[in-house]
Amino acid sequence: MTQFNEAELTDAVVASFDQTPDSRVKFLLQELVTSLHDYVRKTHLTFDEWAAAIEFLTRTGQTCTASRQEFILLSDVLGVSMLVDAINHRERAGATETTVLGPFYVGEHRQMPHGTDISANLKGEKMFVQGRVTDLSGAPLAGAAVDVWHADDEGFYDSQRPAYAADGPSSRARFITDADGRFFFRTILPCSYPIPTDGPVGQLILATKRHPMRPAHVHFLVDAAGYEPLITHVFIGGDAYLDSDVVFGVKDELVATVSQQTDPVMPDGKLAASPWHLMTYEFRMKPGAGTAPQPMLAKPATAAAE
Ligand SMILES: [Fe+2]
Repeated sequence: MTQFNEAELTDAVVASFDQTPDSRVKFLLQELVTSLHDYVRKTHLTFDEWAAAIEFLTRTGQTCTASRQEFILLSDVLGVSMLVDAINHRERAGATETTVLGPFYVGEHRQMPHGTDISANLKGEKMFVQGRVTDLSGAPLAGAAVDVWHADDEGFYDSQRPAYAADGPSSRARFITDADGRFFFRTILPCSYPIPTDGPVGQLILATKRHPMRPAHVHFLVDAAGYEPLITHVFIGGDAYLDSDVVFGVKDELVATVSQQTDPVMPDGKLAASPWHLMTYEFRMKPGAGTAPQPMLAKPATAAAE
């Protein structure tokens, strides 16, 4: 029987993973153990604190559902999501900057014709969004899939609404770029919104006197063959929370001037109720490989039982 002191215990647990077949998995696990043990020693963690941490993580897991991902939210508010993004996108070489995927990418992005009003069922100030997808030289990329999603006029995503299961997606769609790399659609102007505060992550934010707000934005996930998938937002310029995003996701280049328009027609020549807002953005793709991420959502109970 082997008995360990504080220092020997860490070495023993690290060594217990020595036979891990995958060298990268072995490295990640051994570094995790080392960092966790350092944290416990440095903070002199008490039994009560350790139990509270486990209880918090338990509730975080229990809060996840088929349309809610509380662990992504936890990663976001702790800055881990943006740190993973930063170290993996150090060299953009002129490509559009990236930011967090966020917890509201739930799939079900139906392909729609250009010009579709993806928020026709919602109240709010109308916005016309026009974008273009290019390579680093500015040459258009045709046939790229552009997934878009954003919050409504009250700061909620469709997946947070009780009607989501019955009514399906809203303010959420997929467009395929045309021969000139362009896409365009109608929607409403999203507003800044609080992350959900009815779960453990939101409660952590409120208990620590942080504000829960994200500046208004539209999410984009652009996927073109031969290029790295681009996960980003376009933020609405002038938002009060651009300097204090609760998930640390703002980058200067991603803030767009969204201007109010009074023209009686929108850029596609169709009539518009004045005033309306115009968002224009060009997405420059970095050559590379990779596939767009799949939503990391809990399986519905019926599927989990299979
Ligand atoms: Fe968002």
